[in-house]
Amino acid sequence: MAATARDKALAEVTSRIEGEYRKRTKRSYAVAQEARKYLPGGDTRRSIFFFPYPIWIDHAKDCRVYDEDGNEYLDFHNCYTTMILGHGNAGVNAAIKEQLDQGTLALGAFKKNVVTWAQILCERVESVEQVRFTCTGTESVMMAIRAARALTGRDKIVVEYGGYHGAYDAVVFPPDSRGLPKSLMADTIVVPYSDEAALERALQENKGKVAAVVLEGLMGAAGMIPAKKGYLQAARRLSTEHGAIFILDEIISFRLDYGGIQHLEGVKPDLTTFGKIIAGGTAMAAFGGRRELMQLYSPESQVLHHAGTLNANPLSAAAGVAMLKQITPEFIARINALGTSLRDGMNGIFRKAGVKGQVTGMGSLSNVHFGPVPVVDGHTARDTTNKEILHLFHLSLLNRGILTPERAMFCISSPMSEREVKTALQAVEDAVRELKPDIERIWPDLLGTV
Ligand SMILES: Cc1ncc(COP(=O)(O)O)c(C=O)c1O
Repeated sequence: MAATARDKALAEVTSRIEGEYRKRTKRSYAVAQEARKYLPGGDTRRSIFFFPYPIWIDHAKDCRVYDEDGNEYLDFHNCYTTMILGHGNAGVNAAIKEQLDQGTLALGAFKKNVVTWAQILCERVESVEQVRFTCTGTESVMMAIRAARALTGRDKIVVEYGGYHGAYDAVVFPPDSRGLPKSLMADTIVVPYSDEAALERALQENKGKVAAVVLEGLMGAAGMIPAKKGYLQAARRLSTEHGAIFILDEIISFRLDYGGIQHLEGVKPDLTTFGKIIAGGTAMAAFGGRRELMQLYSPESQVLHHAGTLNANPLSAAAGVAMLKQITPEFIARINALGTSLRDGMNGIFRKAGVKGQVTGMGSLSNVHFGPVPVVDGHTARDTTNKEILHLFHLSLLNRGILTPERAMFCISSPMSEREVKTALQAVEDAVRELKPDIERIWPDLLGTV
């Protein structure tokens, strides 16, 4: 189709789907306009913002959220995988209330529930002997890298192309983003994901200089992309051979198995970062690993300093313990099975419709991609997929009462059952049916199967 005709067709479908969205979300629009006065672009968390403007939530319960206009949504976003128990979980609420009643929200002293919290993580994850708590996953990654640098005396780190490890400069993707100090970024080596030979080459070319290899076992933000079988084990072996610390970022993947993805894949990293589900929906994360490494942070050794006003605050410890105690191996198996059922169902819908949609993921985590080639790494996810159709698919799901991030991630929470999976599949099928004539007109390369 000629460029102008294509632009016109795209403008038409965008106006149709956005028009429906705007009709349903007039109050959200009003809040978004007010927000623009005080928050740049009406936003303070880019990863949950989308155009034309995001929905603004009024309240939530179990696996449902309700926006300012009173629309109900089945929540497959779950704060980017954090709310594994859904919203308003009775156990977590009671634990938080207990802290409120005791007056112990934040203290300039220790409270013993933080020990229980640490113990749960250490008992669940074999490679983790000790942990430290932080306020964000970003801080965990930063502190893990600092430990690796301190122990090895080296500066360079290796990360995967397209991965997301938070907002710490050294790991930001893309590494040439504005505002990053070039001197620091010179120490960040980016390799393709799931490519053992490329990792080996990078370590060889930087022999004796790499402090840490930092990886996810399932690339979360890039679109729930599992590593190839054996890749994590190769990364473990190569890190050891090259004297580098292997940091496994389990901030998303920890929910996939009682012992994290490292248990599933049979690897023992030196350090692990945690976030999301460990703090009951409050702002807290952690990193942990081999005692020898973690001891660098002990006040007795005085090697590394790590403080933080709200680190390990009693409120988050209570919420975290209350959440983690409910997450048993059986619990995980149940939500993983629901995730598999959703993924299989969505892949079936795309196949039947003859549309090149594909659903990647593992267990309770899935992600839809529209693109011509199988999505297997950061390159295929970020550079070959079609973002125009994704935007419309996302709005089309919102119009049908399904909440996902704009990148169409689907995360299962425990209040869900096969019933909610069926509801989501119906919405996906309807959205694909609605968009199929537009795909034929505007993106014919997306017709067929991947
Ligand atoms: C794998 C991974 N690492 C690190 C982070 C950063 O965590 P936070 O947003 O808590 O700083 C995230 C956040 O989504 C993540 O998915």
